[in-house]
Amino acid sequence: MEHSKITMEKIVSLAKTRGFVFPGSDIYGGLANSWDYGPLGVELKNNIKQTWWKMFVQERLDMVGIDAALIMNPKVWEASGHVATFSDPLVECKTCHERYRADQIDLGAPCVKCGNKGTFTDPASFNLMMKTWLGPKEDASAVAYFRPETAQAMFVDFPNVITSSRKRVPFGMAQIGKAFRNEITPGNFIFRTREFEQMEIEYFVHPSDWEKFFEEWLANMYKFMDRVGIDAARSHNLEVAKDELAHYSKRTVDIEFDYPFGRKELYGLAYRTDFDLSTHAKYSGSNIVYTDPMTNEKYVPHVIEPSFGVDRTLLAVLLSAYDEETVASEEGEGDTRVVLRFKKEIAPIKIAILPLSKKEELSNVARPIAEALAKYWRVDYDETQSIGKRYRRQDEIGTPYCVTVDFESLEDKAVTIRDRDTMKQERVPIAELEVWFKKQF
Ligand code: GAP
Repeated sequence: MEHSKITMEKIVSLAKTRGFVFPGSDIYGGLANSWDYGPLGVELKNNIKQTWWKMFVQERLDMVGIDAALIMNPKVWEASGHVATFSDPLVECKTCHERYRADQIDLGAPCVKCGNKGTFTDPASFNLMMKTWLGPKEDASAVAYFRPETAQAMFVDFPNVITSSRKRVPFGMAQIGKAFRNEITPGNFIFRTREFEQMEIEYFVHPSDWEKFFEEWLANMYKFMDRVGIDAARSHNLEVAKDELAHYSKRTVDIEFDYPFGRKELYGLAYRTDFDLSTHAKYSGSNIVYTDPMTNEKYVPHVIEPSFGVDRTLLAVLLSAYDEETVASEEGEGDTRVVLRFKKEIAPIKIAILPLSKKEELSNVARPIAEALAKYWRVDYDETQSIGKRYRRQDEIGTPYCVTVDFESLEDKAVTIRDRDTMKQERVPIAELEVWFKKQF
C-alpha cells in the first residue's frame, strides 16, 4: 500500500491493541513518553537484536561482543566530552513555562501550549545526561550518570578486550543495551524517548584505511535493514555538514527514514578518528597503543562507528511491514485485510495452531502439534472465534503460517497450512510438519 496512507495513528493503535507496544505505567495515567513492549513487542525486539548480533558478531571472525555496566566511572563522561558538551539548546515560554528545543520550533511563532507570541527566553544549553547518585550520600562526590550511549564502554574496555581476545586490527566490538538521555522534547511514539536501546559497533582500523571501512560499513547497514525488512525506498543517506558534526567526528552519514511525521534519522555512521581511545588514554593515564604484530608499527587505532537504535528499527520495521488489502474474506464477503508483512526471521510468532473448534477431539490433536513445533519456533495457540477472524488476527500480527486442524485431520492425519502473504492453503501430513517448517525458516 502507498506508504503516505500509513499513519502513526494506525501503527500506534495496532501496536496497543495487539500487544506490541503500549503506554508505560498505563493504569497510573502513564509517564510522559515511556512505552512498554508487550508480549509481541518483546518477541519482535528480541528477533531484531538477535538478527543484528548474528549478522555482526556471530557470522564474522573479526568481531567480538561485550555487555558492560550501564553506570560507568563518571570520569568516562568527562573524557568523552559528554559532561561538557552533550546538550541541546533549550528555550522556555515566559508565560506558561513550557520548555522546547530551540532548534525544533519557530521562535517567532506563538507558543504551541499557551498561544502567546514572542515570549521565549534566550536559548540556554541543557545537558542531556541522566544523573543519579551512587550509595547513601546525595552529594557531588556520589554523582554518576546513566550512559547516554553504549559506545564508550567499548573504548574503555579496548585494552582488556585486545589482550583477552587476541584480535588484530582491523576488528570490531559490538554491544546492545539501554541508553538514557534527558531529552527536552521526546515524542513521536518510540522514535524519541528518554530511555531507549542501542546496538552499536566500534570498528578499529589502521588510520590510513578508514575510508574503505566507512564505505564497507555503510553497505553493511543497508544489508541489515534489508534482512529485517526496512523499506529501502523509504531510506536515504544524509551527509552531515562539517559544521554540524559531533565533536568526535570527522565524517558522519545519517541514514534517514520516511516516517509519517517526516524524514528523520534512523541510524548514524561516524568516523570517530582516534578521538576516543586517545582521550581515554589521556584522562585515565593508561597506555592505549596498538602494536601491529607483523610490522611492529605502534599506533592508536581509528574508529568507524555504525550506530543503530533498536526502538527506531522496530518502528521502521512496523511501518515497512504494514499493509492493507481488499480481499474476499474467508467467510465469503469482501473485506479489508490488515497484514504485517514481516520477514520470517523477525516475525514475533512464526506459526499459529488453530483447531477448527474447541472440541476435545481436535485439541487432542492440535495441542501436541503446538508443543512439538514450539521446541523450534515461537508458536501461538488459538481456538476461539471463527477461523476467518483468527486468520485476520494472525495476519495483523504478521504470523507467516497458520496451521488449521479440522475434523478431517482425525481421519487423514494431515493439517492445512495457510500462507500469510499468498493466503494459499496446502495440506501437509502431521508427521511431516517439522521438516516442512524447517525448509521455510
Ligand atoms: N554513539 C553514537 C551515538 O549515540 P546518536 O546519533 O546520538 O549517536 C545513535 O545515536 C542512534 O541511537 C540514533 O541513530 C537512533 O537510532 C538512536 N537514538 C538516539 N537518541 C534516541 C532517543 N532519544 N530515542 C530513541 N532512539 C534514539
